[in-house]
Amino acid sequence: MTFLPRSIVPKAPPIKTQGIKTKLVPLIARSIAWDGKGRWIEPFLGSAVVALNIAPQRALLADTNEHMIALYRGIQEGSITGPAVRKFLEREGAELLDKGESHYYAIRDRFNEQGAPLDFLFLSRSCFNGMMRFNKKGGFNVPFCRKPERFRPALVTKIVNQVEWARRAMDGKDWEFVAQDWRITIAGARSGDLIYCDPPYVGRHTDYYNGFTDEESDDLAQALIGTDGSFALSNWLENKYRRNDYVDRWFPDYAWRTMSHFYHVGPQEALRNEMTEVVILSPCAAAPPGEPVQADEAPLPLFETSELSDV
Ligand SMILES: C[S@@+](CC[C@H](N)C(=O)[O-])C[C@H]1O[C@@H](n2cnc3c(N)ncnc32)[C@H](O)[C@@H]1O
Repeated sequence: MTFLPRSIVPKAPPIKTQGIKTKLVPLIARSIAWDGKGRWIEPFLGSAVVALNIAPQRALLADTNEHMIALYRGIQEGSITGPAVRKFLEREGAELLDKGESHYYAIRDRFNEQGAPLDFLFLSRSCFNGMMRFNKKGGFNVPFCRKPERFRPALVTKIVNQVEWARRAMDGKDWEFVAQDWRITIAGARSGDLIYCDPPYVGRHTDYYNGFTDEESDDLAQALIGTDGSFALSNWLENKYRRNDYVDRWFPDYAWRTMSHFYHVGPQEALRNEMTEVVILSPCAAAPPGEPVQADEAPLPLFETSELSDV
């Protein structure tokens, strides 16, 4: 049995979303044993940060958020390239600087009518706190970050580099991006596949794409326990107020690997909460535990949707 790269210095993807696992990639990578002969399956792809950093040879990458899938398909097919992104962001960024927030909202309206991936990228990188949130009708509804100068040359270059990095990560690989429900994705898993699951945390960030109920979480646990593939499941384990009894209830006999990190709960530096995240591993997917992963002191921004009005 081989293991995934034991140490990865994670890179950030072009798209932002709350619950992004960039800081957990090292824990995920060092926890999983997998020979790479089947497919890396992610039913909850999100920003794709885990797949892009692990860079398996064969992958099935799925999410119900068709905008994420369309962006990565565009990068894969070559319709979204670094130079195209640069040209687009330079042009729209100059207009944002000139017109201010009305241009952000014009792009948001255009995106909600037409759904173009480059508009999606623009919104993801200039909305409030890099949030990803959609209203009941599926319209992107995050307000502007209020920085008309947002697309400075350094940020445009950074995003272009992230797009190019994503393209290189999937270049020559057998990756399939699909917009579909997790049940379909997991039902198609076969022996030899590794399913990495990062579902929405119940009760948090609820929106058009991220509503996840207790029943759905229970269905997911049952589907994973019954799958022919190996699996790794990310979830939160505890903070100083609460413990996630879902993990104790469904997976008491499975291997767990944990990591704590801090996140901000307000504007002040002192307002920080510690959260322990867990990766639960099916028997064949559990790499031997290594050195404990260091608690990451770097604060993460908090994305509480309740702080935002539903614009
Ligand atoms: C916690 S996020 C994944 C974050 C990702 N690992 C990352 O680091 O960016 C959960 C994802 O599940 C997706 N999702 C929600 N409900 C789903 C469903 N029923 N089937 C498939 N994907 C779903 C959401 O669109 C969201 O992208």
